Amino acid sequence: MLVFRTKKELSNYISSLSKNENLGLVPTMGALHTGHASLVEKAVSENNTVVVSIFVNPTQFDNKEDLAKYPNTLDADLDLLSNVSEGIVVFSPSADEVYDHKIEAKKYDFEGLDTVMEGAYRDDHFNGVGTIVEALLTLVKPNRAYFGEKDFQQLQIIRKLVEQQHIPVEIIGCPIVRETNGLAMSSRNERLSKELRQKASFIYSTLQAAKKKFGTESANYVLNWVKNQFKEHVDLELEYIEITDVETLSPVTRKNENLKYRAFIAVYAGGVRLIDNIAL
Ligand code: PAJ
Repeated sequence: MLVFRTKKELSNYISSLSKNENLGLVPTMGALHTGHASLVEKAVSENNTVVVSIFVNPTQFDNKEDLAKYPNTLDADLDLLSNVSEGIVVFSPSADEVYDHKIEAKKYDFEGLDTVMEGAYRDDHFNGVGTIVEALLTLVKPNRAYFGEKDFQQLQIIRKLVEQQHIPVEIIGCPIVRETNGLAMSSRNERLSKELRQKASFIYSTLQAAKKKFGTESANYVLNWVKNQFKEHVDLELEYIEITDVETLSPVTRKNENLKYRAFIAVYAGGVRLIDNIAL
C-alpha cells in the first residue's frame, strides 16, 4: 500500500495516472472502523484508484480537549485498509503540511445548513470541515468522493460546498453502519464503558420508534415524545432532537407529502457525545 505524507508526493502520483482512470476519494480522520470500511469498499468497487486521507483536522474542533483525545491508530488503520485492498493510496499528512503552517479555517456561507444542529452546538465546525474537504478535493481532483450518512448534515454541506465552489466531483452518500445493538458505529464508542455502550442502543431504538410515530403524529408530538423518553433515562442526556427537511435542514412545521424528512439526535453518554439520524 502506498502511504504519502506530503501534497507534492501525492499530486505527483496522481498526475502519473492515466486520464481515463476513475479516481475515488474517502476523507477520514483515522481511528477507522467498519463504518469507514464500508465507504472504502464502495469506493474500491466503483473506481480504478482510491485515495483514503487520514488526517485529524484541527480547524473543525471547537473543543481542544476533544482534539487532544482524538485517537491516533495509524498502524491499525493501515491494516484495516490493506484488508479492503492492497491498492489503496493513503494520504496521511501533518497539519502544517496541509495548512502550509497557517492552521486556519476559511469562512463559508452554507445558506443556513451550517447554523442548525451540529453547527449550532459546535462553533465554526463546518467552516473547518469545508476548508479541509475543499483542500482535499482540489488536491486529489477525484471523480467521486464518499461520505457517510452518519454525518448527514456534513454530507449535505459538502454537496452545497461543491455546488458553490464549482468543484467537478460526484458526492456519494453511504448508509450508516451500526453495531449489532443498533448503535451507530463511531470511533467515540471506544470511549464508552461496556455497560454504557449497551445502554446507548436506546438512541437508535428511540429513533426507530419516533419514525413509526411520525407516520401518524405531528412533528411536535414526536419531538416531545422523544424528549420525555430521555428524561426517564438516567445515563443518557439528550442535547437535541430535530426533525428537518432533508434538503434545507430546516425544522418541519407542517408535514408535506412531497418533502422528505429526517430526525437528528445528539446525546451525551458518560461525557461522550454521540450523534445519529434516521430517514422518516
Ligand atoms: P470521520 O469522523 O473519520 O468520518 C469519515 C467518514 O466516515 C465520514 O464521511 C463519516 O460520515 C463516515 N462514517 C463514520 N462513521 C460511519 C458509520 N457508522 N456509517 C457510515 N459512515 C460512517 O467525518 C469526518 O471524519 C471529517 O469531518 C472529515 C469529512 C474527514 C473532514 O475532516
